[in-house]
Amino acid sequence: MSKIEVKDLNLWYGDFKALKSIDMDINENEITAFIGPSGCGKSTMLKCINRMNDLVEDCKIKGLITLDGEDIYQSNYNVNTLRKRVGMVFQHPNPFPKSIYDNIAFGPRTHGINKKSTLDEIVERSLKQAAIWDEVKDDLDKSAISLSGGQQQRLCIARALSVEPEVILMDEPTSALDPISTGKIEDLVIELKKQYTIVMVTHNMQQASRVSDKTAFFLTGEVVEFGDTLNIFSKPEDKRTEDYITGRFG
Ligand SMILES: Nc1ncnc2c1ncn2[C@@H]1O[C@H](COP(=O)(O)OP(=O)(O)OP(=O)(O)O)[C@@H](O)[C@H]1O
Ligand SMILES: [Mg+2]
Repeated sequence: MSKIEVKDLNLWYGDFKALKSIDMDINENEITAFIGPSGCGKSTMLKCINRMNDLVEDCKIKGLITLDGEDIYQSNYNVNTLRKRVGMVFQHPNPFPKSIYDNIAFGPRTHGINKKSTLDEIVERSLKQAAIWDEVKDDLDKSAISLSGGQQQRLCIARALSVEPEVILMDEPTSALDPISTGKIEDLVIELKKQYTIVMVTHNMQQASRVSDKTAFFLTGEVVEFGDTLNIFSKPEDKRTEDYITGRFG
């Protein structure tokens, strides 16, 4: 069984149909990349996986998404639990204007963990997993805002990891970063897939081919092609995929 299954998913913002009959299986301990030109529905699809679109007025969804075989849109499904199990990292690092420590402890605290020694452990584990511990371990009381962009993004990854999610959604996590920070995040993501299931939107073709196991190519709300990254990049089946990855449009 796949970690996440998407079946005949359709989504409308008002009258505008942003996702058209999407089918996709996302495997555990793999990195799945979403690629495609601006406005084709990548972020929309990503946000469906932790029900972030519930917050958008006028957004209507039909179809099925399952997590471990359970329909996440069924009426009595616990969305708070879903968001704990499926974490998210955004394009622009968005740490809270709090200390490094409090950024990481925030999620666990909202889930009722208040014991100092437990929080200390979680903060250290999360920062280590996000490969930023060595850079901040002596400055945990420092404001997160004072970190560099690349450090802030790894902090945000640590914050996502602090509640022990199973799936991590990343929407262009490196697009605001320099090449060195980007490389660090890519190495980190590859390391994290041993423990997590990762879905990542990227505009960077090299990044998709370097890090992902599966790639989905989106075009105007449809998934044109979905499969092994190696195949998508070496012998795409659809002419439109080939045109996109070779830079002929988008
Ligand atoms: N909240 C919203 N209300 C109305 N329309 C929206 C909303 N969010 C997205 N859209 C529209 O849905 C379509 C898909 O948007 P989406 O953000 O998913 O694209 P994307 O592939 O992530 O693009 P980009 O690469 O630029 O981030 C676009 O036409 C966009 O204008
Ligand atoms: Mg987007």
